[in-house]
Amino acid sequence: MRNIFENMQTKYNSVRPVTGVAGPKVFIETYGCQMNVNDSEVVLSVLQQHGWSLTEEISEADLIFINTCSIRDNAEQRIWGRLDVFKQMRKRRPSLIVGILGCMAERLKEELLSHTAVDIVAGPDSYRDLPMLLREFGAGSKQINVLLSHEETYADISPVRMDKNGVSAFISIMRGCNNMCTYCVVPYVRGAERSREPESIVREAKELFANGYREVTLLGQNVDSYHWVNPDNPTHTVNFAQLLELVALVNPLLRVRFSTSHPKDMEESVIYTMAMYPNICRHIHLPVQSGSNAMLSKMNRKYTREEYLSKVAKIKEVIPECSITTDIIAGFCGESEQDHQDTLSIMRMVGYDMAFMFQYSERPNTKAARHFPDDVPDEIKSARLNEIIELQQELSLAQNQKDLGKVFEVLVEGYSKKSKEELQGRSSQNKVCVFPAGNHKVGDYVKVRITSCTSATLKGVEVED
Ligand code: 5AD
Ligand code: SF4
Repeated sequence: MRNIFENMQTKYNSVRPVTGVAGPKVFIETYGCQMNVNDSEVVLSVLQQHGWSLTEEISEADLIFINTCSIRDNAEQRIWGRLDVFKQMRKRRPSLIVGILGCMAERLKEELLSHTAVDIVAGPDSYRDLPMLLREFGAGSKQINVLLSHEETYADISPVRMDKNGVSAFISIMRGCNNMCTYCVVPYVRGAERSREPESIVREAKELFANGYREVTLLGQNVDSYHWVNPDNPTHTVNFAQLLELVALVNPLLRVRFSTSHPKDMEESVIYTMAMYPNICRHIHLPVQSGSNAMLSKMNRKYTREEYLSKVAKIKEVIPECSITTDIIAGFCGESEQDHQDTLSIMRMVGYDMAFMFQYSERPNTKAARHFPDDVPDEIKSARLNEIIELQQELSLAQNQKDLGKVFEVLVEGYSKKSKEELQGRSSQNKVCVFPAGNHKVGDYVKVRITSCTSATLKGVEVED
């Protein structure tokens, strides 16, 4: 077997991918959540340090890494489909190496490794090991590392940003999850929760700002349970509200977002910290999952409908202009028509600006899979999901119509999808705003008055200061 991993000494240290250099090339394909996008950037950083460079052309790649998601069955089915494609590709290019990373690697382990198209399987906590796995694979055998860690946060690795716009970037502040929602595979594939050292987070935010970035999104499965304890002085701790403040103080021109908040853990101090700093975006993603107390309890969400609504009321009281978005699951185990109606009614009561909506998908070995029958028929799940989607479209439109005539500060991310005469960016509330380009460029802040809207987009014109 060709061994292209020997004697690799070139090390590239950079915020952006290093391209156009000699040496082996990796193509990275990412599925799933923002955390996975950021993990792929960590993977690229590790590989660049070992002489690899990124290619955007799969046909040029010596190595393909697929960073996978297991959250629903259809996410996994897509990956199996890709593996069949790689199998064909390898008939023409026998030296092509294929590695599976991420959540599905962690969940399926050897089952994936035994696929003819797969050479390397690496779980979310083993990315530092990739150069070693590649070397060993080069020496002749398939490689796997799916050990989960209680400490790994990749704190010292500066992710190499693969985004196109160079304006907004993700920063992981913690890894893993301890919540054990009964439907969810995440705790099994990403392990126990651990918080990253705050200094390294602030350093990363400063580095991004110095490189022209104007927006960071702090990522965690449940950012509100961020809790860092100084190992040298355990009385020194940092919670999420304090971390948010530290990052907001990096520069008033650096916008700060965060995701995801858990309604049971979101403390008032987070809301008040947001209110204190205009550069902390006026947007909270607060997954409700269901509006029915029976379902919430069966899901082990640890809040009631009433508690959720009072948290929303507090947000609206302290930050009236804050947008609220959510995740909803339709057709969880035993969900009755009344439970479903409770979801529709909580959606109306909150008036969500946007929602991610899913049909329940049973995940092997979760508590729900082990204890509750997946008994809502597929037709009913899909009919309920459609009702939820239709209602959300009405709500998004109604929320956007409330913005007509208002002025928002928009951070420009690029041209609009339809025209090079128009730019597009997002408001602090995370709504996409399109407006005539004028002399503006990516990374500018522009004040835009909203003149029209759809359920997905605001349109407007620039106003003078
Ligand atoms: N089936 C459907 N949706 C799920 N989610 C998590 N697990 C499942 C599942 N088994 C959804 C939740 C979560 C989002 C990331 O994915 O709404 O908030
Ligand atoms: Fe992200 Fe969860 Fe999918 Fe893993 S399983 S990629 S944590 S959404």
